[in-house]
Amino acid sequence: MQESFDIVSSSGSYAVRIGRGLLANVVDAHRDAIYLVDERLAHLLPEAAARRVLIEANESRKSLEAMPEVILKLRELGANRSTHIVSIGGGVLQDIATFAASVYMRGLSWTYMPTTLLGMADSCIGGKSSINVLGYKNLVGNFYPPVEVVIDIDFIRSLDAEQVIGGLNEAVKICYARGAQSFADYLAEGPAWPLPPETAQRLLTRSLITKKWFIEIDEFDRKERLLLNYGHTFGHALEAATQFGVSHGVAVGLGMLVAIDFAKRGARLTQTGASHAEALGRHVSAMTDIVVESGVRWPKVDLTAVLQKFDNDKKHNTEFYRVVVPVRDGELELVSIARNDDTRAALRASYEAVFSQLGIDTAVASNVA
Ligand SMILES: NC(=O)c1ccc[n+]([C@@H]2O[C@H](COP(=O)([O-])OP(=O)(O)OC[C@H]3O[C@@H](n4cnc5c(N)ncnc54)[C@H](O)[C@@H]3O)[C@@H](O)[C@H]2O)c1
Ligand SMILES: [Zn+2]
Repeated sequence: MQESFDIVSSSGSYAVRIGRGLLANVVDAHRDAIYLVDERLAHLLPEAAARRVLIEANESRKSLEAMPEVILKLRELGANRSTHIVSIGGGVLQDIATFAASVYMRGLSWTYMPTTLLGMADSCIGGKSSINVLGYKNLVGNFYPPVEVVIDIDFIRSLDAEQVIGGLNEAVKICYARGAQSFADYLAEGPAWPLPPETAQRLLTRSLITKKWFIEIDEFDRKERLLLNYGHTFGHALEAATQFGVSHGVAVGLGMLVAIDFAKRGARLTQTGASHAEALGRHVSAMTDIVVESGVRWPKVDLTAVLQKFDNDKKHNTEFYRVVVPVRDGELELVSIARNDDTRAALRASYEAVFSQLGIDTAVASNVA
């Protein structure tokens, strides 16, 4: 069975399709396209997709410095103004394709097939693409949506527990942000590892339709959409302080747990709110345990470095920390909290509580040069 719906945006509407076996379908419909493909997935690409550029999915390839090579390959393969691009891969391929398609001969149409669960559940729609510049992550970017996003569930088969749970963390974040009913509906679909294809299809549909609400009501990140940063300010600090030793989706999960603890410390929740937030906390903790059981090891974490990275986050302003936390009956809110020693002590205590619950070693300062 296939699901499909449209996303309305100021730069045009685009369609989203979710189902199984869709790669063959896309190649059939786009025999003359040029394929930008994560080289790890090249063996899955039918021969009919003859014009292809294989790209290693890493941060140095999604840089401004690496773009001329991609653009010249398009030229060598005969790309002209009417060429259609099909990009197949995770966030790195999405960012490269958005940029290359937007500038090549002033813009080519393109199709995106996300292949990581994080890409499928979240970033494939409403995506603001970003490119690294001389080592600075995501410094430049643009908005150039594909004409179609096609999600082939079969790509999930080769993802490991950490990648799947990272994607599920983004999905549950979106559903929790939409309210208690949306969160309950998400849990009722049975997010789990391993993730059966039927469950994946239902969860992805739910997550994307919910995200559609946020990006259509607030395309330019002014209000509602900011709530989708839930878990990110706390999580980014952990990613950065461990030199990305904790992967993005897992760090977002931990970030949501820290935010819940922080909200409780600040007495921001009613009793009902605390029970909703605790249900989310139990779910994310159980998912995180699965990542650890799969063999992923925590790096040692320097708590002072985490707090320093948190302090430097560019979303704060000079007077206030700006974080998304659960409030009142469990709904999320972007709150401003005074930058003072009391707040810093509470932040430290919240990180400490979550790290100790998960058995993350903060005893040794090993990650900071
Ligand atoms: N444009 C956006 O809206 C947006 C949003 C979030 C993140 N990003 C960017 O995306 C990047 C991270 O993206 P990501 O985590 O989706 O993936 P990625 O493209 O970095 O891929 C992660 C790893 O998974 C592998 N992989 C991809 N698909 C696979 C599959 N089906 N089976 C097995 N392995 C597979 C890749 O080869 C790579 O080694 C970052 O650079 C981030 O800045 C962009
Ligand atoms: Zn994220």
